[in-house]
Amino acid sequence: MMENGNKKVMVSGIQPSGELHLGNYLGPLRHWPEMIDEFDCYFFLADLHTITVRQNPAELRKRTLALLAQYIACGLDPEKCVLFVQSHVPAHSQLGWVLDCYTMFGELSRMTQFKDKSAKNADNINAGLFTYPVLMAADILLYQPDAVPVGEDQKQHVEICRDIANRFNGVYGDVFKVPEPYIAKVGARIMSLSAPDSKMSKSQPEGCVFLMEKPEDIMRKFKRAVTDSDTERCVRRAPEKPGVSNLIQIYAAATGKSYEDVEAEFEGQGYGKFKPAVGEAVVETLRPIREETERLLADKAYLEGVYRAGAERAAYVAEKTLRKVYKKVGFLPR
Ligand code: TRP
Repeated sequence: MMENGNKKVMVSGIQPSGELHLGNYLGPLRHWPEMIDEFDCYFFLADLHTITVRQNPAELRKRTLALLAQYIACGLDPEKCVLFVQSHVPAHSQLGWVLDCYTMFGELSRMTQFKDKSAKNADNINAGLFTYPVLMAADILLYQPDAVPVGEDQKQHVEICRDIANRFNGVYGDVFKVPEPYIAKVGARIMSLSAPDSKMSKSQPEGCVFLMEKPEDIMRKFKRAVTDSDTERCVRRAPEKPGVSNLIQIYAAATGKSYEDVEAEFEGQGYGKFKPAVGEAVVETLRPIREETERLLADKAYLEGVYRAGAERAAYVAEKTLRKVYKKVGFLPR
């Protein structure tokens, strides 16, 4: 099944810095189980990246485990892909250092995410924030992947990874496979329930439905969802009705119905019936994920087994690449 050399390889990291929400789930996450059928996948929780912004240690630990459980509950079967924690595989930091020496100050200064994050964290513009893309390049290149699934905001980081790999290969021969960004199926682009002009985001909790949220809280958020001042209160998609269009999209994604079917189903019914119906559909969609996550979190031994086995399999591949790199740059073998 794994590492049989036939399937293409894919790597991706997820920062354990926030909670998963409906936008993540109905967007990219729902398509990940299809990806693990198609590719040999390495997925890790990027805890090393997360500390570029100050974290509460107990919370980071808890969230890392909780996210692992949530990803498994969402269908990332640890028998079918390699799930691990970034800090459990030291080769990431080790290759990161080597690649630091093949990355230019100037090119890191141009990274838009660095500029954004240093503007937001003006009191903590640390060197890790600056070299973040180099660690990410190491994360990727260690596994010699064909593809890296990323969202729009990370494309520049995959570009610099390719530049670093090409530069290194230019000096030492073909050490790294140069990966392509893989624009994963994005699914639905879910907007905030309270401000439907912006994307659903954890930074606006009132408009955001979290995967682990209680059904009554989910229902409350949907009942309060912002719609519009259309006097007919018509359940219909239209550019001037972003709130209702978003709810139609959510309902369609949660039930598997087409937009047209949803519009027909609620014709002449107004928003009073529609909003709770969307809430209920979401509650039912998330229920099995929440219950499975809770079940997994009650079984710490199982989760430990998953991340230990994952780290072992990842380290096997990663260390092979690292040894090659150390040899190429001229380190004396131990
Ligand atoms: N920087 C990515 C993000 O914030 C997370 C990440 C770290 C990553 N290392 C990676 C993604 C390697 C893809 C591949 O979303």
